[in-house]
Amino acid sequence: MNSEQHVTFESKIYKKHMKILVTGGLGFIGSHTVVELQHEGYDVVIIDNLSNSSIEVLDGITTITGKKPLFEKLDLKVKPDVQDFFKRHNDIVGVIHFAANKAVGESVAEPLMYYENNIATLVYLLQELKGLSKKNFIFSSSCTVYGQADELPITENAPVKPAESPYGNTKQIGEEIIRDTCRVNGDIKAIALRYFNPIGAHDSTEIGELPIGVPQNLVPFITQTAIGMREQLSVFGGDYPTSDGTCVRDYIHVVDLAKAHVIALQRLLDVKNDSNFEFFNLGTGTGSTVLEAVQSFERVSGTSLNYKIVDRREGDVIAAYAETSKANNVLGWKTELTLDDAMDSAWKWEQKIRTK
Ligand code: UD1
Repeated sequence: MNSEQHVTFESKIYKKHMKILVTGGLGFIGSHTVVELQHEGYDVVIIDNLSNSSIEVLDGITTITGKKPLFEKLDLKVKPDVQDFFKRHNDIVGVIHFAANKAVGESVAEPLMYYENNIATLVYLLQELKGLSKKNFIFSSSCTVYGQADELPITENAPVKPAESPYGNTKQIGEEIIRDTCRVNGDIKAIALRYFNPIGAHDSTEIGELPIGVPQNLVPFITQTAIGMREQLSVFGGDYPTSDGTCVRDYIHVVDLAKAHVIALQRLLDVKNDSNFEFFNLGTGTGSTVLEAVQSFERVSGTSLNYKIVDRREGDVIAAYAETSKANNVLGWKTELTLDDAMDSAWKWEQKIRTK
């Protein structure tokens, strides 16, 4: 064993007894994060109510890492169950909180469901966090908090605009709740991670995105169209003031995103944080149009996608991509994978789940 391997081995042994709670750990980003946590030697306990995920994801994670994480089917809305869980797991040293609803349109139709699922649950979790001896919290936030930013790329200093939807509002309110809590509880440390557009799947094809019903997001709609489940991709709007008329987004590989969570958690565990509430953009720093995303898919899959430009979708911002210097320099994280890598993995994942 050389010295570098030795250090890695030692640090994994050290982390071995660090129990991390991942809420929504069977979901898309949650499951990839569990894998990266386990790779780093953490002990993971997942809670998930399976409302938008499948228990089979647990097998996918176990196949990749060789270790089955602890799992409890638990609904965070049931406060006594949350209290009971933390009584039994009072040795948790970090919480990564993904469990939430994320469909914009649905949130407009069912605002109270979104406020209960995304806000009430956050409050219950923070109340229990206060009782732990180690109070480290990572929050799954979104670039949606910026709305249509006045300047691109979007820095963390960009103003938070009035939310366009109850979903977006839950992310803004969620950050405010955490900020207020940290203000009066100096021993709670939290980081909000503002994701741009997470896409792709694990290279092993053991885990990936599993949308229920018709996908609302671009990439699963592309892969489902290519595999023949959908007839045609509707490209929403071709007359935006962008290079080819379609909207610009910052598509980030879910594995890069997952690794950022582990780094953020480590920052808190090592007490390297500058203040007890921090927030970072997580993106690649590069904007791609919808048509560039389609071209990337066509390139890596070797297929030609049936798509048609249609009317704009209500509520879409024209362009959003991240300024990444704060995440790069302060957090010490940067993306390693490309849009093509993400499309390639998403396509392999789609092919795998449809032939099972
Ligand atoms: C959307 C949400 C965002 C949320 C994120 C969660 C909106 C306006 N924004 O992001 O708040 O955090 O999902 O996953 O809903 N597109 C098509 N055809 C499709 C699907 C999408 O052209 O069938 C286009 C969209 O117009 C957009 C781009 O692809 O320009 C990306 O869309 P999507 O994947 O839905 O992500 P966002 O809208 O950026």
